[in-house]
Amino acid sequence: MDKPATLNEHKYAELTIGNVHVTNGVLLAPMEDVTDLPFRVICKRMGADIVYTEFISSDGLVRDARRSIEKLRLAEEEHPVSIQIFGGDLDIMKEAAVVAESSGPDFIDINCGCWVRNVVARNAGAALLKDPPLMASMTKAIVDSVALPVTVKTRLGWDSSSIIIEDVAARLEQAGASAITVHCRTRDMGHSGNADWSWIPKIKRAVQIPVILNGDVTSAEEVLNAFRETGCDAVMIGRAAVGNPFIFREARHMLAHGTQAPDPTFEEKIRTCLDHLRLQLSQKQERRAVLEFRKFYAGYLRGLYCASAVKQDVQQYESFAQVEDRLEAYIEFLHSHQLQDDVA
Ligand SMILES: Cc1cc2nc3c(=O)[nH]c(=O)nc-3n(C[C@H](O)[C@H](O)[C@H](O)COP(=O)(O)O)c2cc1C
Repeated sequence: MDKPATLNEHKYAELTIGNVHVTNGVLLAPMEDVTDLPFRVICKRMGADIVYTEFISSDGLVRDARRSIEKLRLAEEEHPVSIQIFGGDLDIMKEAAVVAESSGPDFIDINCGCWVRNVVARNAGAALLKDPPLMASMTKAIVDSVALPVTVKTRLGWDSSSIIIEDVAARLEQAGASAITVHCRTRDMGHSGNADWSWIPKIKRAVQIPVILNGDVTSAEEVLNAFRETGCDAVMIGRAAVGNPFIFREARHMLAHGTQAPDPTFEEKIRTCLDHLRLQLSQKQERRAVLEFRKFYAGYLRGLYCASAVKQDVQQYESFAQVEDRLEAYIEFLHSHQLQDDVA
């Protein structure tokens, strides 16, 4: 008779970054205005192995700007966690890395992949893909300035005619980077088109440091495929986790057993949504917390019976009590209709 699968029998990858060691690592991607402390904690509770802050402006950190400094706050339970910084000025980035280090992350990540115009215009983010020697010297300068490991998150290249990721990866390894995360698109693509994972095995051949795959991983099955098809050292998930932190639990289950985990029930989805919002309230003033939370409802309520009216209502509320009342009533409604989750 077949033995049930165990995690050891399905060891697809080991990832080590400094003191952080994870097997079959599934990581939460840095996302501006999304991966704040409450969301990172929720994803960690659901099984994310490593979480990242949203990118933080090096200028803001060095100027001691309140909004940037606020983003450095970490919770004990979210470790291992990385703080990501961005900027185009080498000296400011060095200084910012030292400020970030003092918040106690497990490593520092440098953003060399952000495609948006106002970041690129400051020679930061993906603009560094136009100058690989500068990307490498910035990385080396930061590696030399902090005691923590330093990693880099980047893209394949600037555009389809300049896919330089193998060369970039080799330069970053030489500069002392402890790992590289590759969003498998070019800067020109933004978020359009498909991520091309076929570059990952080529990057793996070019360097010894861990290579983390990112881009278009939207289900537990795709996490498994990513490990199997590319030999990556870990998988990073962004958009598919927004309002769906369950994806980390599902991925763990899939990697350990090769089968789909049971879906979260409607009640678990809604209660997790409320727990997440409560965590927001513990960090921010109520109105701001409730308004900033609006981006998460679509994910938490996706696929639930009669959810669109509920979504419309909660999108308009400005107090927690209103949201809580509406969602508790919704749970009652779903129970009273004795809806099975597969019907909901
Ligand atoms: C709303 C949003 C904000 C993002 N902010 C950041 C960021 O701060 N730093 C970063 O390196 N990438 C950022 N990204 C890119 C993601 O980390 C990730 O590379 C990209 O979404 C592709 O992964 P996915 O297909 O799993 O979403 C952001 C993406 C989104 C959608």
